Amino acid sequence: PQAQLPTRPLAGRHVLVTAGPTHEPIDPVRYIANRSSGRQGFAIAGALARLGARVTLVAGPVDLPTPVGVTRVDVETGGQMAEAVDTALPADVAVMVAAVADWRVDPAAQKIKKGAGEPALRLLPNPDILAGLAAGPRRPRLLIGFAAETERVVEHATAKRVRKGVDWIVANDVSGDVMGGGANTVHILTADGVEDWPRLPKDEVAARLAQRIAEALT
Ligand code: CTP
Ligand code: CA
Repeated sequence: PQAQLPTRPLAGRHVLVTAGPTHEPIDPVRYIANRSSGRQGFAIAGALARLGARVTLVAGPVDLPTPVGVTRVDVETGGQMAEAVDTALPADVAVMVAAVADWRVDPAAQKIKKGAGEPALRLLPNPDILAGLAAGPRRPRLLIGFAAETERVVEHATAKRVRKGVDWIVANDVSGDVMGGGANTVHILTADGVEDWPRLPKDEVAARLAQRIAEALT
């Protein structure tokens, strides 16, 4: 008889996934955001759950259904996402797909009114959740980041992998219609080198990545 591959190779593993954008309030009615749709991260969370993992999905503000079998924690800001990630630990694997806003604003308590001059926004750095996980005492055994780049994709992403101290980077060319689109062209960067994947539907990128994660853990 043919050898059978286990159908739920991630059973017993806890995987943490972040997805979506974050919204950083400027005042009670306005915020800073980015074009992330959350679709790639949600697809990855679903694919990991199908392989048997217990999945915690920390999601920024997106209008997407929760994948089957996934525990979802909704947040709005990068600061809240950092807290939710901390609460979800420990995890065997973390896949940080969220497009966390790099900057936040100290929000005004009341709506900023026109006519009071041109308001200046002071941008304050958000915590780097991935770098914090990489350097912290509860670092997941397999730590995977995404890198959204619009130029020199592999070069920038390689530098990011080393700088942040993560195991794999999924480098993502976002110069086209990727953010919000249904397909993705990615490169998988590990300590062993670069793997170029063809342009694939986001669900297919998710399925392949989940399979690769399962292989790495066994
Ligand atoms: N990331 C994070 N927390 C942040 C910023 C980024 O956890 N405050 C994570 C993302 O989820 C992703 C990885 O870090 O997995 C890389 O994000 P990216 O925006 O591509 O890199 P940055 O280090 O923020 O650099 P830059 O935006 O300047 O290219
Ligand atoms: Ca960034």
